[in-house]
Amino acid sequence: MLIAGNWKMYKGAHEARRFAAQIRHLGERTPGVDVVVCPPFASLQATLEGLGEGSAIRVYAQNVHWELEGAYTGEVSPSMLLELGVEGAIVGHSERRQYFGETDEWVRRRAEGALEAGLSVIACVGESEEEREAGETYAVLERQVASLPRHERLVIAYEPVWAIGTGKTATPEIAQDAHAFIKTLHPSAVLYGGSVKPENAAVLLAQPDVDGALVGGASLEQHSFEAICAAAVEAAAAA
Ligand code: PGA
Repeated sequence: MLIAGNWKMYKGAHEARRFAAQIRHLGERTPGVDVVVCPPFASLQATLEGLGEGSAIRVYAQNVHWELEGAYTGEVSPSMLLELGVEGAIVGHSERRQYFGETDEWVRRRAEGALEAGLSVIACVGESEEEREAGETYAVLERQVASLPRHERLVIAYEPVWAIGTGKTATPEIAQDAHAFIKTLHPSAVLYGGSVKPENAAVLLAQPDVDGALVGGASLEQHSFEAICAAAVEAAAAA
C-alpha cells in the first residue's frame, strides 16, 4: 500500500520545510504503508531537510525530463533529482496533460528516462467527464496505459479527471471497476486519486484492486494526511 501526497503548486521552501518537520515521523507509524510526498521542484531540497535523515517518508518530484542533461529550458532531469535525494517522480498528471500539452508519448519517455536513471515513477491515467459520458473510459485507459513501460519501480495512479479537486470522488465501485480493468492491461499496482479525504479513504482503500492513493488537497494539511495514512494502515492490515 502506498499513500502519496501531491502538493501541486503549493508550499514554498519555507512552508515545505516546516510541514516536513511536522510529519517526519509519520512513516514510522504506518506498517504496511509507504508514505511519499511530492513537493514542487523549488521546495524539494527544503522538504528533504525538514524530514531530516532517517525519516521513512520518501520524496518524489511532480514531473521529470527523460534526458540526464541538455538544452531543455524549464525542465529538470532524473539525475538532478537523484543528486538531491529525491527517489521518484509523478509523470503524466492530468493537470500536465490538460494545461501543458503533455502527450502519451512524452509521458512514456519521461517514465522510461526516470526508471532508467533509477527513480521510481507514479504514472497517472484517467478519463475526463466528457470521455466517461461518451462511454470512452476503457478506450482512454487502454490508450494511456499502453504507453507505460512495465517495471517494478512503476505504479499507476488512476485519477478520473472529473474527480480531481472537485470534491466529486469516484464511487468505490467506479474506482474498483477501473482498477480491475487497468490490471488486465498492466502488471503494476494501481493507486486511486481524485478528492481522496479522511472521510472516504477507508472505503476506497478497502477495494480489492485499490493499492493506495494519490492525494492532492487533503495532503496539504497534517491532520487530514495523517488520517488518510491511518486508513491505509487499516486497509493494509485487513488485506
Ligand atoms: P485532489 O487531487 O485530491 O485534490 O482531488 C488529486 C491529484 O490531482 O493528484
